[in-house]
This record gives sequence, C-alpha cells and structure tokens, in this order.
Amino acid sequence: MIDVVKPGQVYKLNQYEKLGGEAGVRQLTQYFYQAMNSIADVKTIRDMHAPNLNEAEEKLFMFLSGWLGGPSLYIEKFGHPRLRARHLPFSVGTKERDQWLHCMDVALSKMEIEKPMHDELMQAFFNTADFMRNQDK
Ligand code: HEM
Repeated sequence: MIDVVKPGQVYKLNQYEKLGGEAGVRQLTQYFYQAMNSIADVKTIRDMHAPNLNEAEEKLFMFLSGWLGGPSLYIEKFGHPRLRARHLPFSVGTKERDQWLHCMDVALSKMEIEKPMHDELMQAFFNTADFMRNQDK
C-alpha cells in the first residue's frame, strides 16, 4: 500500500509480482507504447519520440521493473535514472503529462488487475509524471 506519496518522491512499489512479474511488466510496457502509437489524441508526445519505439519500450520496461518493486534492471545498466533531468530536453507541460497518463491508463485497463490496484498505480504514475513537468502550462 502507498500511504503517502509526495510529488517526485523516489519510492518502491510492491506491485511487480501482482502485475505478473517480468512478463506482466513487459506486457504493460508493450500496451503503453501501442497506445501511444495508435491514439490520435496523444500525437504531441508520440511526435517527441523516435519513429521506432523499441528502444524507448525496452528502457521503460527496465525502469518500471525496479520502480514496481522487481529487479532494478535500469539502474544496473544505466545507473541512476535522473528521470527529470533526462526529460528536460523535451517540453513537458500538463498536456504532455496527461497524454502520457492516458496511454498508461489504457495500458493498465488491458491488464487483468482489480480497480483498486489500477487506481493506486495511476496515482503513483500521476505523481511521477507531474514531477517530470518542466513547463508551467
Ligand atoms: C510526463 C510526460 C512524459 C513525457 C512527455 C515523456 C517523454 C519521453 C520521451 C520523449 C523520451 C525519450 C524517448 C526516446 O529516446 O525516443 C522519454 C524517455 C523515458 N521516459 Fe518519459 N515521458 C514522460 C513521463 C515519464 C514517466 C512518468 C516515466 C516513468 C514512470 C518515464 C520514463 C521514461 C524512461 C525510463 C525513459 C528512458 C530514459 C533514457 O533515455 O534512459 N517517462 N520520455
């Protein structure tokens, strides 16, 4: 359970196993980028990404593995995520944040998880995505 999640706080979730471990987190990441690739309303963030999403998908999978409480694959390979700094080259305002969250909402909806877990994860994703915002709009 997440009791208090402060914006930008680095914390460990314990949802990795509940999502189905490695295969589940891979599936979630795949659904996420499928959503980004196919929903017209998220064109702004799709256009920020390279035409081929394979690398982004692999990196998000590795990051989420650790973030969700599983193996810290991203940190082992790339070191500290410095996620906010890594997103600074991109203009991230509320529109971009909400498009990202929409893709994650769609992806989570395809996973076989209960609503409380869906909502809890969306809250945690909201906090992380909002922390990534670098534009006051
Ligand atoms: C708030 C809206 C967000 C936008 C617009 C955004 C956009 C992007 C873009 C354009 C990239 C570069 C992809 C590429 O190399 O082609 C990226 C990388 C990445 N994003 Fe986001 N992102 C957002 C939120 C998040 C969140 C909430 C997370 C984690 C929960 C996240 C995790 C990552 C990771 C792990 C990478 C790879 C970093 C690396 O290059 O090592 N992003 N993001």
